[in-house]
Amino acid sequence: MCPVLPLPSAAARPAISLGVSYEGRDPALMAQMLAHVDYVEVTPETIAEVDGDTIVLSREVLAELKEISQQVPIIVHGVSLSIGSHDGWAPTYLHLLDDLMEQVDVAWHSEHLGYTKVDGQHLGIMLAMPRTEQALDLVCARTEAIQQRYGIPFLLENIVHVIPDCPGAYSDAGFLNALTARTGCGLILDIYNLECDEHNHGLNIAAFMAELNGEAVRELHVACGVMHNGFMLDVHSRLTRPRTADLAYDAIHNVATSAQVVVYEFMPEAVPGLGHAAIGHELAQLRARFQG
Ligand SMILES: [Fe+2]
Ligand SMILES: [Fe+2]
Repeated sequence: MCPVLPLPSAAARPAISLGVSYEGRDPALMAQMLAHVDYVEVTPETIAEVDGDTIVLSREVLAELKEISQQVPIIVHGVSLSIGSHDGWAPTYLHLLDDLMEQVDVAWHSEHLGYTKVDGQHLGIMLAMPRTEQALDLVCARTEAIQQRYGIPFLLENIVHVIPDCPGAYSDAGFLNALTARTGCGLILDIYNLECDEHNHGLNIAAFMAELNGEAVRELHVACGVMHNGFMLDVHSRLTRPRTADLAYDAIHNVATSAQVVVYEFMPEAVPGLGHAAIGHELAQLRARFQG
């Protein structure tokens, strides 16, 4: 009988950092959050504004980010690159990213493993990649191009499956494993997205975790959305549920053992309902959970 190897204990893992998403223009909230976090994650599109015929980064928010970067590292998380579109990605996003990278020190950057446009038409939603060899070739070539363009670590995030999958050559975890093995890119493991896939499509999270090459995971996301017509939606409007934190804790100790940071995500539209104090308390709780 083979000996059963013990899983790494909590004490064996290096301390994990805590991060938070921030879209600028709320310095009072930022001051409260900075007491608890080691990283701030920003999305270029959400700090952009229209200037004549072009879209540019807000000078006001850039000034804020420069100040924040004196205290904690900035990480960048884009939403509109559309790395999986068959007819090309979104150059507008890359121009914003170029500008942000020039003006603010960025520790690493990331995007979503999906697509938001087809034949040049915006879908108004992000859809998951088909898990075929052809799709893998496409996203690997673009990932390598991004890595060369910026020269800092690039991560891709597992997104929710809004509609059922087409049949593909890979499982969910198998596709991520092939992508990271071929390109050397990292992963964001979004725990709440996995819970949405579990609820909406029957994803087996334990089997996913058992198959995933966790060494590639640099960052985890925790968040909470709402139920709508029986669907669990990743709208990032609430405080995390205990189960989400439990799954993240298990992942960083048993699967994603090289992960550096857990990021709590919420939309600015959720701030009035949650309140600054509750967000500060949430971050303190997460910090105690993951670093305690
Ligand atoms: Fe994301
Ligand atoms: Fe996420």
